[in-house]
Amino acid sequence: MERLNKYLARAGVASRRRADLLIQTGRVKVNGSIVKELGVRIDPGNDLIEVDGRQVVEGNQFEYLILNKPAGYLSTVRDPFGRPTVIDLLPPNLPRLYPVGRLDFDTTGLLFFTNDGDLALVLTHPRHLVEKVYQVKVAGAPKDSELKKLERGIILEDGPTAPAKIAIDRIENGNAILIMTIREGRKRQVKRMLKAIGYPVLALHRLAMGPLTLGNLKPGECRRPSESELRELLKLKEQFSPGSVKPV
Ligand code: URA
Repeated sequence: MERLNKYLARAGVASRRRADLLIQTGRVKVNGSIVKELGVRIDPGNDLIEVDGRQVVEGNQFEYLILNKPAGYLSTVRDPFGRPTVIDLLPPNLPRLYPVGRLDFDTTGLLFFTNDGDLALVLTHPRHLVEKVYQVKVAGAPKDSELKKLERGIILEDGPTAPAKIAIDRIENGNAILIMTIREGRKRQVKRMLKAIGYPVLALHRLAMGPLTLGNLKPGECRRPSESELRELLKLKEQFSPGSVKPV
């Protein structure tokens, strides 16, 4: 037996708090009857659970995974030339997962996977302004005034960039290591922005995306989001995609 709100959260329908709201507002039925009391326990194997009249299907829960992508892998599901893809790095026996956004072949760091299409859309849509944090090694050491240009936004061939945040972390052998935060996710955006001010990128590593951080995952390792990370993800989904609060 499992608490109804916990079950709904586990099934990816809503965060636990939001699940409570769904229950209290009469949107959840157990075996055909509306259940409004919090704390009701259900048997996921035997009870029929519906939200807004649609069945929550057991065994079809959403899956979420964070990978520390090594260099030398494509962020696609399949490559016609047979090159290694990030899918090769995922553990077996998972449902089919898709990378949320892309990292270049040589870029390393946080890549998030899910089969929750609504969440993927929320995380990648430029309007939703999910922050991506990168550690960037460039050739040379840009001046603060040069970085300010990127912070304000510059013109690339596909249009102006939104404001970014950039700090110099350290200088190593004359090359700067920067921490750069952007909200957009255009193709090769970080590399193109730095090249535009005259500092080609030597190495690029993503540290964070929205509420997700890499933590101490080694290259090639993956983990499921923590409870608090998952809570934040579901909050984002509910905030920007309220229509997606539905059974899976
Ligand atoms: N920006 C880039 O230029 N490349 C990446 O892989 C990610 C962001």
